Amino acid sequence: MSILKINNVTMQFGGVTAVNNLNIEVQEGKIEALIGPNGAGKTTAFNVITGVYSPTKGNVYYKDENITGITPDKITKKGIARTFQNIRLFKNLTVFDNILIANHLRINSNFVSSTLRMPWSNKEERLMREKSEMLLDKLDLLRLKNEIAHSLPYGEQRKLEIARALATDADLLLLDEPAAGMNPSETMELSSFIHNIRDEFKLTIFMIEHHMDLVMEISEKIYVLDFGQLIAEGTANEVKNDQRVIEAYLGVEEDA
Ligand SMILES: Nc1ncnc2c1ncn2[C@@H]1O[C@H](COP(=O)(O)OP(=O)(O)OP(=O)(O)O)[C@@H](O)[C@H]1O
Ligand SMILES: [Mg+2]
Repeated sequence: MSILKINNVTMQFGGVTAVNNLNIEVQEGKIEALIGPNGAGKTTAFNVITGVYSPTKGNVYYKDENITGITPDKITKKGIARTFQNIRLFKNLTVFDNILIANHLRINSNFVSSTLRMPWSNKEERLMREKSEMLLDKLDLLRLKNEIAHSLPYGEQRKLEIARALATDADLLLLDEPAAGMNPSETMELSSFIHNIRDEFKLTIFMIEHHMDLVMEISEKIYVLDFGQLIAEGTANEVKNDQRVIEAYLGVEEDA
């Protein structure tokens, strides 16, 4: 069963067609990937799914509900969470506070009112703290609870960003280049981390990634974008051996 359907989606910015008539169906419970050269339209596709942009044409369905054009905070509440190509954390807050705030946002999407004005009862606050601790524990980040986010090694910051996304109780997790900037051992570790959270939290994961080893190893299905257009889809082996993909993408990698 598909959890996410991107139906004939086109996204234009002025004269630039960033995404051109895209059709994708992500299957529930799977780890699937969106790949393609720089500027292919991958992040734009995520931005359309998460409501950052309303598409020029087409529709996005989540669990068979048309979510096209609704706001990002509403989409988060429906169960889609994401991370960003450039890590977004509250860099001067602790690991724990980053998660706690995400927990507050799940209930009240306005940051100021959720942290300053809402009259959280002691009980609600305690439950949220417990929930945050449990999440950190499951992700093996509890040992870093009191560390300031920006002081963490890069790989741990990426994990914290994923943890923060999970604090919203998502069913579908979109990861935009989670291995960007990671060294090879961090990248290897990320692969088992992603498998583990998929199983532990019963997630569907749709990820953009440039590390081909990671993508090929982890993805049950791969979609290849080039100049906004889907040029191939299939298993790692199918995509790897597709002539258009070799030319458009893997060829470019080899030349670089
Ligand atoms: N807000 C915007 N306004 C104008 N053009 C945009 C906007 N967002 C994206 N684009 C353009 O759309 C195209 C696709 O960009 P996008 O960021 O989606 O690519 P990408 O596949 O994520 O690339 P990368 O691998 O480098 O992250 C690019 O030509 C980009 O300049
Ligand atoms: Mg991008």
